[in-house]
Amino acid sequence: MNKIIVSPSILSADFADFGGAVSQIDSSGAGWIHLDIMDGSFVPNLTFGPQLVRALRSRTKAVFDVHLMVIHPGTFIRDFADAGADIITLHYEAEMNPRRFLSEIRNFGLKAGISIAPSTPSSVLDEILPYTDLVLIMTVNPGYGGQELLPDCLIKVEELVKKRAQAGLNFKISVDGGINEHNAEKAKQAGADILVIGSAFFAHQDKSSLIRQLQG
Ligand code: DX5
Ligand code: ZN
Repeated sequence: MNKIIVSPSILSADFADFGGAVSQIDSSGAGWIHLDIMDGSFVPNLTFGPQLVRALRSRTKAVFDVHLMVIHPGTFIRDFADAGADIITLHYEAEMNPRRFLSEIRNFGLKAGISIAPSTPSSVLDEILPYTDLVLIMTVNPGYGGQELLPDCLIKVEELVKKRAQAGLNFKISVDGGINEHNAEKAKQAGADILVIGSAFFAHQDKSSLIRQLQG
């Protein structure tokens, strides 16, 4: 079995020191960084845009896992591709024609992800699974870090594992929201390949051992 990927989210970092947060993630051995882009419209919160992604790009070789929680995410694909994203994930609920934009992301040479919020069933993705490299299952309502995981969402991970095998596809399955050292095992058992972790990462004293534990 492939090693679990851990993608720490800088949403829970000190917003006055994103450079320091990137150093902490790099020295933890995670290898990925999750960047939550919020527009105050698709979700009731605002974070940052491509300028910050570009500024951090020069500081690290980590995989940039960009999660767009914005309406009309298609508008921003070029900006985030130019800023140095490696993966761009957009929300099914935010775009009329996600398939077209998944292709556009791939045309930039990047990995294309699609995400669903807790109230959206996994069946809406059936037609577009062949066009995605990553499915991000939100395990909290998008908008804020530090919320508690909604365990029912993990059923969607199990459903996607089955669909992936049936269709002979190889997209990765990511879980995002409320993941910590206590519930990560449940997410892994459901079949998650990638664990996004925000508040629990920045709260942990020994980040390297946390990452090793989550990857194992
Ligand atoms: C929530 C974001 C998550 C969040 C995870 O809308 O998409 O990536 O940062 O943070 P925690 O782990 O604190 O839920
Ligand atoms: Zn996220």
